[in-house]
Amino acid sequence: MKIDVLPLEQMKKKIEDESQLAFGKQFTDRMFVMEYDTGKGWHSARIQPYGPFSLDPAAMVLHYSQEIFEGLKAFRRQDGSVALFRPADNVRRFNKSAARMCMPEVDEAFFLDALRELIRLDQDWVPNSEGTSLYIRPTMIANEPMLGVRPADQYLCYIILSPVGAYYKGGIAPVKIWISDHYVRAAEGGTGEAKTGGNYAASLYASKEASEKGYDQVLWLDAKEKRYVEEVGSMNMLFLYDDKIVTSPLKGTVLDGITRRSVLTLVKEMGLEIEERALSVDEVLDGVESGRLKEAFGAGTAVVISPVAQFTYKDRTVVLNGGQTGELTQKLYDTLTGIQYGKLDDPYGWVEQL
Ligand code: COI
Repeated sequence: MKIDVLPLEQMKKKIEDESQLAFGKQFTDRMFVMEYDTGKGWHSARIQPYGPFSLDPAAMVLHYSQEIFEGLKAFRRQDGSVALFRPADNVRRFNKSAARMCMPEVDEAFFLDALRELIRLDQDWVPNSEGTSLYIRPTMIANEPMLGVRPADQYLCYIILSPVGAYYKGGIAPVKIWISDHYVRAAEGGTGEAKTGGNYAASLYASKEASEKGYDQVLWLDAKEKRYVEEVGSMNMLFLYDDKIVTSPLKGTVLDGITRRSVLTLVKEMGLEIEERALSVDEVLDGVESGRLKEAFGAGTAVVISPVAQFTYKDRTVVLNGGQTGELTQKLYDTLTGIQYGKLDDPYGWVEQL
């Protein structure tokens, strides 16, 4: 399929002071769009000026949430070039989410080319300063106007780009986490592993409650026993426990995070043992108090690595590492961002020059 590049009549004004970049509030000049019809497949691929879509009020995504998305980043390197981090992994996961949500898959090689072409055209939007990047958001929605409950026959797939600063206002500042003993995010057999908007919508009520109580994020427990830690909505959780890295196994309820995968590779290289196993909330709380659990951090594309300052569960609060970023957490942040920004070698082939 050919990608038409439509003319751009007006360029937007960029934020000049990059320290003012928030997360996902500003978008570049262009976007990639393609359409799907059952029987015809994907068609009408184009790069067009960024702007609103016209959607029928009966569009199925607005009623039954057939939607998926991805999140990946492009980085400005010291020599001025632009690099992508593991983009093929994101496109593969996009198709996995599509299959789970009964949506059509995309041709991975074509979609990667489209993504590269869009970024090439809008590459002036990749910010330069430390900690900033261009966040890439591939998305697919069911746009068939129809109120019956079944997989749609029409879809819109698009990619938008947003120059971003740190996801949390405090940058790599340690976060306060509330462990919910009531709300759950995903149950086995559900859609927890898919990157679909509904998972995020379902997390908002507890996040709001957590925020009102002064916490930054919610850590979800498993839906069955409400006993084992799973993930925080925007990141996977990893723990330095008994000098091993412990993280929740991938059994359909947590996202198969690409940053999680990268961190596991890095810690293995550092000689640490990895345990992908169920970790109970008691082990976390008692572990912090006994000193067996030394560090905890989240890992995700948007947040990169996010150190945990404290966990609160019911009326018990435990503080990690005096509320400061732990040594391993900092080292992983430095290594991962070092590879992404081209300050460190990339022996894993994660980085792809544009
Ligand atoms: C990401 O880390 O890219 C995410 O998709 C998390 C979030 C911003 C929803």
